[in-house]
Amino acid sequence: MGKMKKLPQGLGPVLIFAATLLVALGLGIGIRYLLTGSGAGGIPSPVTIGGPFTLTDPQGKEVTEKSFPGKYLLVYFGYTYCPDVCPTSLGTMAEALGKIGKEKAAKIKPIFISVDPERDTKERLADYGEAFYSGMAALTGTSEQVAAAAKQYRVYFAKVKAEDAEVGYLIDHSALLYLMGPDGKFIRHFSHGTQAAEMAAALEESVK
Ligand code: NI
Repeated sequence: MGKMKKLPQGLGPVLIFAATLLVALGLGIGIRYLLTGSGAGGIPSPVTIGGPFTLTDPQGKEVTEKSFPGKYLLVYFGYTYCPDVCPTSLGTMAEALGKIGKEKAAKIKPIFISVDPERDTKERLADYGEAFYSGMAALTGTSEQVAAAAKQYRVYFAKVKAEDAEVGYLIDHSALLYLMGPDGKFIRHFSHGTQAAEMAAALEESVK
């Protein structure tokens, strides 16, 4: 029996059975994934993105998902001390909005949600929002409100220690830009690194 000699009698067939079972299980999962398919932007469709949130704007006014009726929302989570990712993402977004027709751009409300309420004061947020795009809502809230909003959008964020002691800390965060419809439903997302022209074309297509 060659190599099988060391195995206790009867174990060979058991191993073959186990291997077959694993392959079948793998196929099953694969087929299930194929059947469920992928939603817009490659995110599996059963995952819901977005939902109710309660935050505060720089004027101290409460803002919820219902505060911009009839508007498409471009939702981005970040923080004003972010050295590179946020400025790049928001710069690209602003550039893309500048490339599309004015009528369509007017239907879109960009929303920046700070995951750093500790440092992002109302004044800081007001300046930050306007610096990138006139009319961008720059929101934050209590830690609990921010965490709840991030959870709705499946956004991950976590404090990390900065090498530069003056900054204190950085925040690792998901860098996805979400396009939500006027009905509050997720339409698609844009990954960090998407080019402005590509984003503009997608916005032209998605915004009716
Ligand atoms: Ni950032």
